[in-house]
Amino acid sequence: MIWKSALLLNLYFVRVLVLTGAGVSAESGIPTFRGKDGYWRNLDPAKLATPDAFARDPQLVWDWYRERRRRIRNAQPNAAHEAIARLAHHADEFLLVTQNVDDLHARAGIPAEKTVQIHGDIFATRCSRCDFLDADRGGSPEPPARGRLRSIAPTSKSDVEVPRCPTCNALMRPGVVWFGEQLPGNEVQRVENYLDNGACDVVIVAGTTATFGYILDWALRASRGDGELIEVNPQETPLSRFATRLVRESAAIAVPRIVDELMDSGSSKL
Ligand code: OAD
Repeated sequence: MIWKSALLLNLYFVRVLVLTGAGVSAESGIPTFRGKDGYWRNLDPAKLATPDAFARDPQLVWDWYRERRRRIRNAQPNAAHEAIARLAHHADEFLLVTQNVDDLHARAGIPAEKTVQIHGDIFATRCSRCDFLDADRGGSPEPPARGRLRSIAPTSKSDVEVPRCPTCNALMRPGVVWFGEQLPGNEVQRVENYLDNGACDVVIVAGTTATFGYILDWALRASRGDGELIEVNPQETPLSRFATRLVRESAAIAVPRIVDELMDSGSSKL
């Protein structure tokens, strides 16, 4: 494979952006959102991941997130996560923007400073009203009962199931972005800063339907000029027509190969 970016790689400067979605974790056993396997108790995730659903039935929403936390804790990073981590360590400049709220990229070894979790972190728990945040891997089925959080330790069955804020007593919620909510401003700024600092030689978009305009926008802006824009997805997406290379395969098969090819494409740097 002759890479357009190989020329750039030979200049010994490689700037990479990787954008990932649920498809990258699919082969670790984490269901995607929009596939038929994404449904949980026959409920549509798009209807559960909303402030309205939480207001209507916080218990149901917490049950769903606890089930997802359990599944993620039992899952392992797959070959795609590992290959992306390898690229992160070898590129001169690298940023991963993932829509995934799981921790599989982190467990594959990508440092936090090279990762933007644009839809939040499923293991964080935050107050639905004030700024109180428990980022202390609230991955246990019940809220952890230590430190400040001792005050939200369960005192009854309903407290176990829907934790309350130790500061203002409002309901605690998972630390993720729901449909219709704003993206975290500081994380958006990190992406913008990376894009402002220069175009990318290689942009890989893997396992996402790219339904959100900002994903498309970031991919296109990052690959402006001469950048390679590679899409890895078995299905067509709104991004496909802009890609310089389409790889219609699963992420765990295709991404390691793409990363190997990049590394073999002549750069002593990668
Ligand atoms: P989706 O569930 O919408 O899409 C998963 C994508 O991955 C689809 O395009 C599949 O074709 C593709 N796919 C499936 N298996 C794959 C595999 N093994 N390898 C590669 N690709 C595969 O997930 P996202 O696009 O990530 O947001 O969804 C984006 C956001 O919508 C999520 O972060 C979440 C969701 O609702 C919020 O909750 C705010």
